[in-house]
Amino acid sequence: MTLPQDHPLVRGRTADSALVRAYSGHRDGGRAIWFMRQAGRSLPEYRAARAGTAMLDACLDPGLASEITLQPVRRHGVDAGIFFSDIVVPLRLVGVDVEIEPGVGPVIGTPVRTADDVARLRDLGPLTAERLAPVTEAVALTVAALGSTPLIGFAGAPFTLAAYLVEGGPSRDHLAARTLMHAQPEVWADLLTWAADVTGTFLRAQVVAGTSAAQLFDSWAGSLSLADYERSVAPASARALGHVRDLDVRTVHFGTGTGELLAAMRDVGADVVGVDHRIPLDEASRRLGGRTPVQGNIDPALLAAPWPLLEAHVRDVVRRGEAAPGHVVNLGHGVPPATDPDVLTRVVALVHGL
Ligand code: CP3
Repeated sequence: MTLPQDHPLVRGRTADSALVRAYSGHRDGGRAIWFMRQAGRSLPEYRAARAGTAMLDACLDPGLASEITLQPVRRHGVDAGIFFSDIVVPLRLVGVDVEIEPGVGPVIGTPVRTADDVARLRDLGPLTAERLAPVTEAVALTVAALGSTPLIGFAGAPFTLAAYLVEGGPSRDHLAARTLMHAQPEVWADLLTWAADVTGTFLRAQVVAGTSAAQLFDSWAGSLSLADYERSVAPASARALGHVRDLDVRTVHFGTGTGELLAAMRDVGADVVGVDHRIPLDEASRRLGGRTPVQGNIDPALLAAPWPLLEAHVRDVVRRGEAAPGHVVNLGHGVPPATDPDVLTRVVALVHGL
């Protein structure tokens, strides 16, 4: 399928943006910067808009989700919006009992540990266009307001989703998930295939509705060895990205602690690799064979440091990013909630002025 005729990429509104040019491996579009978790608790206008509304209810209110997506674009002048949603939204939309608890993260009512549990997930049925309506409506509202600024869609990778589903909530080392992966490989494969299709459908719906790029978050993949990643996770991540492969849109693949996995994460079918702050971008680019655009990797800890330290760090990130065929400046992980938003605005101005 090709993208709809009124899609921002097709109509040329975002095709020549700094973000899309850099994701496509070109350096002629100017420097692009956005921040993971740019919409969120660091912004007073976000806290005001969210007051009294549960996280997942906010995600599924198209007007509110669109407004929250636009807030950091207006305030910071970043080069892209990231759709305000969550990796567990598609789980909620198919009927999984999931909540996002403030300060904790996603919590699953009934953890998924057995073949019967996975069968019950399948019984929930597919993620239909009807169920996705709040998402596609919010994306359409947002891209209409953004004009020539691209919107990035996103989804969670099957492993990170499975880590929540098996553990029942956030965990440090994802031990139960990794035990299942080794002890019951067929159940694991079945769970990851299900998760790949649900999350891939969620991602595709956003792209068709108007996003100009798509990012797959495998936030917890860094807890895996390369061998385990390649054998037990990569096929499902490739399947998830396969849901947008026929659409002419660039994909980004990000995880934390993934220095050993960078090439494998590219090889599941991503155009761009997101790099966390634990590995310098020139080294990341070397590990990627020098042929893959990168995104990253300002250390979020430096956002709270004195400006001269942060400025020197940002300049170093930009310089090292020049080793790659394209570079979109971002953090190595999400904006910490206590961040002073004026610091983010100042980082954007610095990067645009370089
Ligand atoms: O601005 C953006 O980046 C877009 C929105 C976005 C959210 N979640 C909103 C959100 C994105 C891209 C995500 C992805 C997400 N969600 C990931 C992958 C990225 C990453 O951070 O590694 C993961 C692992 C989740 C699961 C999740 N949801 C966590 C760990 C949390 C934080 C819990 C907490 O309160 O600290 C959430 C909740 C969440 N998702 C918030 C936001 C703005 C905070 C909700 C609030 O305001 O209370």
